[in-house]
Amino acid sequence: MASYKDRWDTIKVLVEDGIAWLYFNRPDKRNCMSPTMNKEMLEALEALELDAAAGVVVLTGEGAAWSAGMDLKEYFRETDGQPEVVQERVRRDASTWQWRLLRTYSKPTIAMVNGWCFGGAFSPLVACDLAIAADQAVFGLSEINWGIPPGNLVSKALADTIGHRKALHYIMTGDTFTGAEAAEMGLVNKAVPLDALRDETIALANKLLKKNEVVLRAAKIGFKRCRELTWEQNEDYLYAKLDQAAYRDREGSREKGMKQFLDDKSFKPGLASFKR
Ligand code: COA
Repeated sequence: MASYKDRWDTIKVLVEDGIAWLYFNRPDKRNCMSPTMNKEMLEALEALELDAAAGVVVLTGEGAAWSAGMDLKEYFRETDGQPEVVQERVRRDASTWQWRLLRTYSKPTIAMVNGWCFGGAFSPLVACDLAIAADQAVFGLSEINWGIPPGNLVSKALADTIGHRKALHYIMTGDTFTGAEAAEMGLVNKAVPLDALRDETIALANKLLKKNEVVLRAAKIGFKRCRELTWEQNEDYLYAKLDQAAYRDREGSREKGMKQFLDDKSFKPGLASFKR
């Protein structure tokens, strides 16, 4: 297992029982995302991809916030006078981990939203495969409140999850909403009281850890890509994904599953997983 202790300044990684806990770790700044944090997140995600001890990655925040979005000082004000190429690079680093890498990450990801979640934080939130929030977490598209339209993938992430009218309402008013409301809207899968959040996340992660990782990856990436393809392209692409999974899956899940259902009659796929 890789050692992550003291490796980064603005994030923290702990790997335990198959789960990698990846923390935004600037609690005194409500975990807002600085250029340094964006670089460190990228390094950490790439390291975790190669760590066999990390089966599921949980993205969460240290302290009272999940993340208060982009760092207004370090990401905006301090890059304002910089050459264009520097500004572009700072933006590229943010996008690279916040959605490009995270959206089709090779391992399952869960956003565990423990508190404040604003603006730019919606990109990694929606890019994670699944999300569980504390009932009392507070979400908001605060950009309009301080004079900018939402940038990066924030509006796209909202359009993909909560739909047209609700997205525009929050984008245009800056109104906040709670974790419980986020679950009702489909922005997160579930909301639970804060003191149950960690156990709930562990239970979900353990469910994912029992699945075949090759098939799980093909299923989630297939789903994410299929949203942008036509019906015709999808038919071809998703069958190709299915064949790819069968080819890459050394465990032979499909054959095991069929045998256990059709021949041994030892399980019902509609109700549970086959025995690995
Ligand atoms: N960018 C830069 N600094 C931020 C920040 C951000 N997005 N969010 C919080 N901070 C800093 C504050 O400036 C403050 O720094 P200081 O201690 O040096 O003065 C520190 O974090 C604590 O913030 P504070 O506002 O005192 O915490 P709070 O618990 O009272 O309120 C929030 C929490 C999240 C409601 C509030 O910090 C906030 O509105 N943040 C901005 C959210 C936002 O608009 N994000 C969108 C960016 S795209």
